[in-house]
Amino acid sequence: MSLEHLLWVEKYRPRRIDDIIDQDEVKRRIKEFLKTGNLPHMLFYGPPGVGKTTMALAIAYELYGDAWRENVLELNASDERGISVIRERVKEFARTAPMGKAPFKLVILDEADNMTSDAQQALRRLMEMYASNTRFILIANYVSRIIDPIQSRCAMFRFSPLPKDAALAKLREIAQKEGVEVTDDGLEAIWEISQGDMRKAINTLQAAAAVSKKITAEVVYRTVGYVEPREILELISTLVHSGFMKARDKLRQIMYEYGVSGKDILKIFQRELMKGTIETTDEGKIELMELASDIDYRLTEGCDEEVQMLAFLSKIQVTAKKHGLKIKTEEGTKEIKEVKETTETKKTTKRRKTSSK
Ligand SMILES: Nc1ncnc2c1ncn2[C@@H]1O[C@H](COP(=O)(O)OP(=O)(O)OP(=O)(O)O)[C@@H](O)[C@H]1O
Ligand SMILES: [Mg+2]
Repeated sequence: MSLEHLLWVEKYRPRRIDDIIDQDEVKRRIKEFLKTGNLPHMLFYGPPGVGKTTMALAIAYELYGDAWRENVLELNASDERGISVIRERVKEFARTAPMGKAPFKLVILDEADNMTSDAQQALRRLMEMYASNTRFILIANYVSRIIDPIQSRCAMFRFSPLPKDAALAKLREIAQKEGVEVTDDGLEAIWEISQGDMRKAINTLQAAAAVSKKITAEVVYRTVGYVEPREILELISTLVHSGFMKARDKLRQIMYEYGVSGKDILKIFQRELMKGTIETTDEGKIELMELASDIDYRLTEGCDEEVQMLAFLSKIQVTAKKHGLKIKTEEGTKEIKEVKETTETKKTTKRRKTSSK
């Protein structure tokens, strides 16, 4: 069996434009272009795993049928050793005439936003030089990193994260074809982890299926070394009810026993804050959002994870004291627990008050 068939993301990658889920506006405009028999240069942008590469390949399939490989040059901007390699390969590729009905060949350049602006300038000249018999499809996650002269030469297509219903329906279909059972909470867990990134969703499903033929939320979280949001809520709850030292133990348990990274904890924290499961005033929310992004930045910069996460917890305590903070517990009961000041925070506030006099 080929690798392609071992990987479900490849096995279930839609071949045709109509089989791509959602992205209706993109599909509509692309079909319009295809009807005219001509294509502009195009720029696809949007978050990971939502069908950008899939769409580029589907266009190639639409244009050239089974001969698509001969008419398509797939490049990855960040893999290649700079623009000179790209230039050489495009030059070589554009030398020969296209095969089939389309009067041009297709260059698909993935991760174009990873190119420096100098390289993008060179790319722009390249696009012009070979415009007579090639069309470029540039793919990026961040459109803001693409220089204006390229943006203005391309038809732009924005891809959005997949809607939950459509994504879950696709996962159900794959599970059924692969003969694995997924429970509703298993699907919810996969959604929680992937959030509209279909590649991540399918990969998670496959990883979980390798562990168990019945995929529950627990199986999902266990296989990907991810922590259930409930654990993070418990961490915050421990912090505000039982104090910093207890919360530190809980944090260590999450990080070292479950193997969850600080960044993942921050992500879940932010999501629960947005959802309102972690409830505070608007000011409190802003403060906590800023805090989470600040810590996230420091982790990216390579600061010590445990030190940063402990600082994170202590600052949450400060915000909870200032603005109040409630945790909505497990679904159904909707019971709201008021945050009590711990003796520790009381002491520090008192001290601060006296010193400011
Ligand atoms: N809109 C979609 N409809 C159906 N399947 C999808 C869709 N988007 C993604 N997938 C699935 O996820 C896999 C990855 O998608 P794709 O390679 O198109 O992502 P991408 O948008 O190019 O992401 P990246 O920015 O990371 O390159 C595909 O092989 C396919 O199985
Ligand atoms: Mg891609």
